[in-house]
Amino acid sequence: RLAYGADYNPEQWPRETWDEDVRLMREAGVNVVSLAIFSWARLQPARGAWDFAWLDEVIDLLHENGIAVDLATATASPPPWLTTEHPEILPVTASGGILWPGARQHWRPTSPVFREHALKLVTAMAERYKDHPAVCAWHISNELGCHNIYDYSDDAARAFRGWLAERYGSIDVLNDAWGTDFWSQRYTDFQQILPPRQAASHANPTQQLDFKRFSSDALKQYLREERDILNVITPDIPVTTNFMVMGETKGMDYADWAGEVDFVANDHYFVPGPQGVDELSFSANLTGNIAGGNPWFLMEHSTSAVNWQPVNTPKKPGALRRDSLTHVAHGADAVCYFQWRQSRAGAEKFHSAMVPHAGEDSPIFRSVAGLGRELESLSDVAGSHRSPASAAILFDWNSWWASEQDSHPSDRLRYKQEALDWYSAFLALGLRVDVVPSAADLSGYALVVAPILHAVPAALKGRLEDYVQNGGHFVTGYFSGIADENDHIWLGGYPGAFADLLGVRVDEFGPLLDGESIQLDNGATATLWADRVQPSGHDVEILARYTTGEHSGDAAVTRRAVGNGSAAYMGARLGAPGLAPVLADLAASAGLSSELPAELRGAVEMVVRTDGRTDYVFLINRTDTAVDVTGVEGAPLPGWESKLDPRSVSVLTRRAAATG
Ligand code: GAL
Repeated sequence: RLAYGADYNPEQWPRETWDEDVRLMREAGVNVVSLAIFSWARLQPARGAWDFAWLDEVIDLLHENGIAVDLATATASPPPWLTTEHPEILPVTASGGILWPGARQHWRPTSPVFREHALKLVTAMAERYKDHPAVCAWHISNELGCHNIYDYSDDAARAFRGWLAERYGSIDVLNDAWGTDFWSQRYTDFQQILPPRQAASHANPTQQLDFKRFSSDALKQYLREERDILNVITPDIPVTTNFMVMGETKGMDYADWAGEVDFVANDHYFVPGPQGVDELSFSANLTGNIAGGNPWFLMEHSTSAVNWQPVNTPKKPGALRRDSLTHVAHGADAVCYFQWRQSRAGAEKFHSAMVPHAGEDSPIFRSVAGLGRELESLSDVAGSHRSPASAAILFDWNSWWASEQDSHPSDRLRYKQEALDWYSAFLALGLRVDVVPSAADLSGYALVVAPILHAVPAALKGRLEDYVQNGGHFVTGYFSGIADENDHIWLGGYPGAFADLLGVRVDEFGPLLDGESIQLDNGATATLWADRVQPSGHDVEILARYTTGEHSGDAAVTRRAVGNGSAAYMGARLGAPGLAPVLADLAASAGLSSELPAELRGAVEMVVRTDGRTDYVFLINRTDTAVDVTGVEGAPLPGWESKLDPRSVSVLTRRAAATG
């Protein structure tokens, strides 16, 4: 069946509360908890001193009650004795400040001293619990990189030099890649290189980009070191760590990390606002595709308000269930929360939990228990895979990093927002789409949208050209195709790498000032960016033109037919409402149509999982009004409704389309 549970922090509570915890867990249908995530200080009160007795007792108690344990390696937050003895493990900011102890995750990913101590703890945990039948998985550290992804310390400098030496082989190759003849930056030895610490002006852009790559790799390397120990001591226990495919968390290239774990796990927190539901689905979708379409584990989300947004509003009725089931729709086989019992003390005492401060007699606990029962009725879904869509949005960490660096035409550009706007446009049209990493196999997709695909190595350029030659329909847009993997400009006119494929030329970038906007003849409004696009051949069709100001009459959106395929360019930021009509046109020419009845498009998100015999069709009411999904092909699972209340979800089954 699907897993259901939470982070469980029993060390924050007296012993008698543990008995109440397991009673309530059983009542709620909880069958897994993540344990010991922030327990280092308890487990190792001093160098060489260990105290596992309390954890033994908790694990036994859970096991007796049929609750499995996703056991943390407990390395997420080093204890005070360690940082007192070894302040050299503390991370350093770009301007040389120290991230002091007192919160959490105050450790340098590259510190040999931290590693020595943390890996000792991992070994002790693995040896202690290797035979405990409750342990179903290892949970490495916690949200690696949440607070410490960028460390500019001397340890980081040393490791960065080693990483660069491996990447470039010689200092001359690095000088070429970094373009160091600009501003007299030519190095004669790797020893001269530093992380991009706060400098007098803009740091070398390739140095900045490489530091981002290095920082993601350094934490990935740390993840591997914990994992390798676990794999030796407990070869049969799967290993994971909780990713953060959410919001603007961009430091970790999870597409690159996914191969390091036995199953992908993700944390997601709802971002209130007009695109909140879209962002929730986007994150779940990308996570599912990073997991290669295989089931994954929702390790954390919230039952209601968080405590770290500027204003932390509770979830509306039904949203708890909708949010959880949206993740399940996109392939999650586990629904877990931060956290089981709301803390009385500490920085997260105002963060919601499965058992709120009010206790079990509360709307939140009743919703939690209700969802637990419903998840039991979804047991057959467990193990099924994502059923691929016919369209894809490419998501590329290198382009995210590179396009948002400093010294650019505009510092207003937001990579993820543009990708999300396209996603919202797909949702508005009721079209299923997969958000896939840029390395994904695209051959099965009729339409591929690559928003702000800025960093384009020759190999990626070639793959996309082949995709179009083979009949694919490719769409990209402003600030795409601009640079190669070294952040050097593709010459010959923008959009550089894609200028020939798209059959267009942009001579100067079109960033717009705050408050400025330009109208298009299709009714859309451009803000933030508006390239004046020149078609370079007769095979290029103009899909939309600007109608106001200096741009009036110029092309904004174009499409070039290439054999059975096409390549389209969206020169302006149109936002989700402006993208939808253009996408409708592009999707229709790619042969795509919505699987939803017309009246449900936009109101309902449809997501499909399949086990090869049965398709599980999830229908999510994205709106605050009731909808009726009776017109969708399939039969509701027993107990699931066709009339959906605001924010409600239904699951239909139908026979899977024959494959192979
Ligand atoms: C996550 C973290 C949890 C908790 C949660 C609160 O970032 O892993 O420990 O802090 O956020 O939303």
